[in-house]
Amino acid sequence: MIKKCMFPAAGYGTRFLPATKAMPKEMLPIVSKPLIQYGVEEALEAGLKQIAMITGRGKRALEDHFDISYELEQQIQDTDKERYLTGIRRLIDECTFSYTRQVQMKGLGHAILSGQSLIGDEPFAVVLADDLCINTEGEGVLAQMVRLYNQFRCSIVAIQEVPPEETHKYGIVAGEMLRDDIMRVSTMVEKPKPADAPSNMAIIGRYILTPDIFEIIQATEPGKGGEIQITDALMQQARNGLVLAYKFKGQRFDCGSAEGYMAATNFCYEHFYKAGKGY
Ligand code: G1P
Repeated sequence: MIKKCMFPAAGYGTRFLPATKAMPKEMLPIVSKPLIQYGVEEALEAGLKQIAMITGRGKRALEDHFDISYELEQQIQDTDKERYLTGIRRLIDECTFSYTRQVQMKGLGHAILSGQSLIGDEPFAVVLADDLCINTEGEGVLAQMVRLYNQFRCSIVAIQEVPPEETHKYGIVAGEMLRDDIMRVSTMVEKPKPADAPSNMAIIGRYILTPDIFEIIQATEPGKGGEIQITDALMQQARNGLVLAYKFKGQRFDCGSAEGYMAATNFCYEHFYKAGKGY
């Protein structure tokens, strides 16, 4: 059973400066709800109630968000504004939150390794909150992946086809298709140029990892950009046939880019906020 979900959230969010100068990028609102809250909702929907956040300097707002604000609650008690807090209250009631700081920014692999003591020796999920994933047709992406894990018991990455000229923005995978939506991964490359990319199947920010990944990351040399890459660590597992890539059902918005952020905002406004379901 997977119970824990890790949120690496230590990054600076430089693409959204100056908004992210004094505020964590994970707190950027999609209409009125911060990105990180969408991620935690997706985890809870998948049955993952133990939330492990990897934060850093200047990220205290994350902890405050997943805590009660007595003054505010008292202020709006018995008014119609209370409904705005129903979503976040539910997360606070049903999940536990633990935090650790990534002291140096040495890449996503390093961030995940920083959270080892919060996870221990069990399989866990990882959500990159920048990638907002929404499935209006059925269960969320993490729930789909947890189900797959229960069947296959190995690491799983979520993938999506991207235009060939965009491979340099993603971890790219290739392998053998076991089903039209499941690939057994044999190759993984972090942010290859289009000419070097083994395919145009890109990893998006949802992972399920088996706990041996920690030891593998420890032995992983810095890769692309001089950073310790989770893609390189996963490649070690893939050599033993222990990584699946899953073409998820639903849509993904790259909220680390202004374009994706605006698309997500418009989408959530139309589908959720206007219907009174945006908080
Ligand atoms: C990270 C991973 C990359 C993955 C991407 C998904 O990159 O290193 O493999 O494709 O997340 O969003 P980042 O976007 O943090 O540079």
